[in-house]
Amino acid sequence: MKKDLLSINDLSKNDVEKIFEMTDKLRNKHTSHLKGKNIALIFQKPSTRTKISFEVAINQLGGNAISLNWNELQLGRGETVEDTARVLERYVDSIVARVFSHDDLVKMAKISKVPVINALSDLEHPCQALADLYTIKQKKRKLTGSKIVFLGDGANNTFHSLILACEKFDMDIVVSCPKNYKPEIRANYKIIENPEEAVKSADILYTDTWVSMGQESEKENRIRDLQNYQLNSKLVKSAKKDVIVMHPLPAHRNSEITSDVMDGKHSVVLDQAENRLHTEKAILCLLIK
Ligand code: CP
Repeated sequence: MKKDLLSINDLSKNDVEKIFEMTDKLRNKHTSHLKGKNIALIFQKPSTRTKISFEVAINQLGGNAISLNWNELQLGRGETVEDTARVLERYVDSIVARVFSHDDLVKMAKISKVPVINALSDLEHPCQALADLYTIKQKKRKLTGSKIVFLGDGANNTFHSLILACEKFDMDIVVSCPKNYKPEIRANYKIIENPEEAVKSADILYTDTWVSMGQESEKENRIRDLQNYQLNSKLVKSAKKDVIVMHPLPAHRNSEITSDVMDGKHSVVLDQAENRLHTEKAILCLLIK
């Protein structure tokens, strides 16, 4: 495995399989893999799942998590990410960071001798994608050949990572979005603008917020542009009978997903959230030597 996990493209298919094997081994276990290790968790944006699942994962592995908001650190007063990384590597065994600019993670990883883990950037959310792919494998028992359909904002950081992860397993990837909301990554996916057409024979339907953190000023336009891509019961009925519905959360109920679908029998959103914890334990064990 590479030193850092900034993008799903930092992992080979074999690395992903290793993470899933380790996830199965560590599920619901408390171990001492990280005994004596300290991990800094830095958040430039709010978080519920990522912050808490990483803290619990580190705790269950016998390590010590130090969680800090960007503005509690001198980063908030202009200390550079490079200088911060130079100092942190003298104290901690890994840095997990949620940032606005992906470039800040790249700068940290370049400077730091300890692993840097992307806890979400404007470009990618690899830890979410690994939990999502693990959830698909858990529910569907196979990845290769399964059809996943993303609805909404195709340029979303979570979609980017999940598209790259699904591509490694030769899944059939369809993105249903308006013309100016296409993914901003190179990968092997199809665009089908019409959502009713896109969801036909889907095994997995996936959506995420239409207004990501930092896009609040564009809220009205984005909601107007994306309203026809809402994941609702009509679309679920057009997919396969045993389709699973996924959302990384937090959800805006009755905006990108209707409440009945989010709470309905096809939804696996809470298993997805739980799997953040299990997969992050494996990521930490494999990256921190
Ligand atoms: N899905 C996800 O990353 O959730 P949080 O923003 O709550 O961490």
